[in-house]
Amino acid sequence: MVVAGTGSQVPERILTNADLEKIVDTSDQWITERTGMKERRISAPDEAASDIAVKACEKALAEAKVKSEDIDLIVVGTVTGDMLFPSTACVLQQKLGAPRAAAFDVSAGCTGFIYALSIARQFIASGASQTALVVGVDILSKITDWTDRSTCVLFGDGSGAAVLKAGTKPDTGILATYLAADGAGAEHLYMPAGGSRLPASVETVQQRLHTCKMNGNAIFKVAVRSMADAVRHLLRQTDLKLEDIKLLIPHQANLRIIEATTKLLKFPPERVFINIHKYGNTSSASTIIALDEARKAGRIHAGDAVMIVAFGAGLTWGGVAIRF
Ligand code: ACO
Repeated sequence: MVVAGTGSQVPERILTNADLEKIVDTSDQWITERTGMKERRISAPDEAASDIAVKACEKALAEAKVKSEDIDLIVVGTVTGDMLFPSTACVLQQKLGAPRAAAFDVSAGCTGFIYALSIARQFIASGASQTALVVGVDILSKITDWTDRSTCVLFGDGSGAAVLKAGTKPDTGILATYLAADGAGAEHLYMPAGGSRLPASVETVQQRLHTCKMNGNAIFKVAVRSMADAVRHLLRQTDLKLEDIKLLIPHQANLRIIEATTKLLKFPPERVFINIHKYGNTSSASTIIALDEARKAGRIHAGDAVMIVAFGAGLTWGGVAIRF
């Protein structure tokens, strides 16, 4: 199977570190040194996940030269869909005009796109699907506590999409996938209210329980270990060696996490893709925006092997090896 096209879309509004200095007690220096982030995109009040995702999908479909009516599967990785239900995949199916497509969302935090891509790959490998649209989108700004400096500086909004097609070209497309989870770490990154555990009430709103809570230090340690673990698993599943990977695309959560992972793996930093300074952590969208930008920037050529790895709420982690 082949990755026939990719696309990405971020909201127009830019929120810089200087802007954040006016909202919470923070500084450009702290954010830059601790995270590598300089700015992030924030959606408009009336802009939901599907509004930006639809544009990313249209770009991916155009590049793949696929008509929306030919899509038979839409899988969306997100934790901030338009609504709890129906799925954002169904909203996109209607917006794109893809009546033949089965459609559903996947919740795996920032590993959302990798989980979605792995699922679509299985559908195509089994013959159940021929043309799949895989989306990563999150609008974390709408579930951010803008009074909490330890989280509000980290997140941004964005979306990306990839078109997967059944194909017979040997040794190209998705070579291997690896998915993992550890529910014992759920307490480190979660949104307490809005589900069946704590439905919305005056109290949950007053206590800001509809916003993301995070234990940054605990996540940091797991992040480095788990992304390195994903790379090693993918190497074992393929005949690739570290030196064969032309580009490593890690989840853009923190530049220090990326650097520590690269160091642990002894992987050359010049072959690691980084765009965290522009978008911050866009959750499910992070790796697909990075993959799309890397392709459009000429960092990936025909025949190149690329690895994409991520970690996120759940806790979840995983990776995908692709040869273009
Ligand atoms: N500005 C200024 N100071 C701050 C800020 C801020 N924005 N945030 C925290 N601080 C302070 C803290 O209060 C603390 O002060 P103290 O020493 O007086 O107590 C100090 O800075 C150091 O805080 P730490 O939390 O130890 O800082 P650290 O270097 O660990 O960086 C960070 C924090 C950036 C959150 C880091 O731990 C991290 O990136 N963790 C991983 C987070 C992550 O990847 N989350 C996404 C998961 S994926 C998903 O599913 C969404």
